[in-house]
Amino acid sequence: MTGAGTLDAGERLSREELTVLQQERLRATLRHAYDNVAFYREAFDAAGLRPEDCRSTADLARFPFTTKGDLRAHYPFGMFAVPEDRVRRLHASSGTTGEPTVVGYTERDIDTWSDVVARSLRAAGGRPGDKVHVAYGYGLFTGGLGAHYGAERLGCTVIPASGGMTARQVRLIRDLRPDVIMVTPSYMLTLLDEFERQGVDPRSTSLRVGVFGAEPWSDGMRREIEERFAVDAVDIYGLSEVIGPGVAQECVETKDGLHIWEDHFYPEVVDPVTGEVLPDGEHGELVLTSLTKEAMPVIRYRTRDLTRLLPGTARVFRRMERITGRSDDLIILRGVNLFPGQIEEIVLRVPGVAPHFQLRLTREGRMDRLTVRAEARPGATPEQRAAAVETIARRVKDDVGVSVAVEIVPPETLERSVGKIRRIVDERGA
Ligand code: DLL
Repeated sequence: MTGAGTLDAGERLSREELTVLQQERLRATLRHAYDNVAFYREAFDAAGLRPEDCRSTADLARFPFTTKGDLRAHYPFGMFAVPEDRVRRLHASSGTTGEPTVVGYTERDIDTWSDVVARSLRAAGGRPGDKVHVAYGYGLFTGGLGAHYGAERLGCTVIPASGGMTARQVRLIRDLRPDVIMVTPSYMLTLLDEFERQGVDPRSTSLRVGVFGAEPWSDGMRREIEERFAVDAVDIYGLSEVIGPGVAQECVETKDGLHIWEDHFYPEVVDPVTGEVLPDGEHGELVLTSLTKEAMPVIRYRTRDLTRLLPGTARVFRRMERITGRSDDLIILRGVNLFPGQIEEIVLRVPGVAPHFQLRLTREGRMDRLTVRAEARPGATPEQRAAAVETIARRVKDDVGVSVAVEIVPPETLERSVGKIRRIVDERGA
């Protein structure tokens, strides 16, 4: 279905042509950053490096990293590489902790962004002429407007629903008959509840494809959503600091992880502790370098997202495995590392349990305690609920290696998502 005829010029490059292009673009980006951003100039000088010392993509490993802390320290415009009057758009990242970070786009950056999201949407199975319901939030968050411009670029009709007003979203989906929905997977589950509340079979909608991202989700969640909505569910990845959605996308024909749009973003995976670059196939932290950005180039940006790089399949570009977790979400429970995604995989396989769960951290004396609170499906029997407590506790012990408490709460009692869901409730400080 994705014949070569529908691929864009970047997607038709050979691996060799791609490498040449990456090296060219990398050198230009390093030069642009060095000449126009004091932070990069000082960092390269301190490392004794000049942009021209990067002769091949492998040389990039000699250059210093950039962190979220660096962006915060230069808030709001200190990382911009163009005069302010060339900046056409500003976005900001959520900044749940401390200072927000502001990101900027030139006209060409918005153009590039539209192209990569259009490419993502096409890889997901979207086609010109499709109607696309965008339920990512509009505003300073990059999700809504990023998806919007990309869908328009592909030649789709956009329904800019944004997040929230769930009953109205369902009404719009029923009446306007979109082919594609772009939304966080957790908010898709909130929509699912609402369909059921309105007595509408979610499998009966016009939706064919869902493009889900902005938060971690599991293959178990994919099965749940595909089954309940009768759609193809694929993964989209991105982050504001690098551009927003559209850094990497899973292809619908393979559903085997996300192809990184490597002609615009150069990926490395590093050991999160030592910073050493790891060979493809090994798990570590994703580090991204922009290759075409003007307003705010980023060099070796530490995403804190954990994954590994794999060879291309449906596209020439390398893939990254679904994000297994974010170093910020790592729970270290009595010495054992655990990510919410591991619990999601377990919870979603237990009969009688809905795909809604929360992880509550408390402290008893000097011991941390984790309680998995999962919701019963409507109609689950008391026996099923009792068995679920036992099954979840046992599987977490066997698969993760740590003891947790489990509570099965009644249907519709856990907080629902309107955008990015918060899985961890940390009450240890309280
Ligand atoms: O979430 C951009 C986006 C919007 C991506 C819509 C996809 C769809 P930020 O708010 O800056 O930007 O958050 C970026 O969200 O570093 C990851 O930790 C997480 N994230 C984004 N996509 C995925 C995904 C947007 N597909 C942060 N899987 C990133 C897992 C994801 N985590």
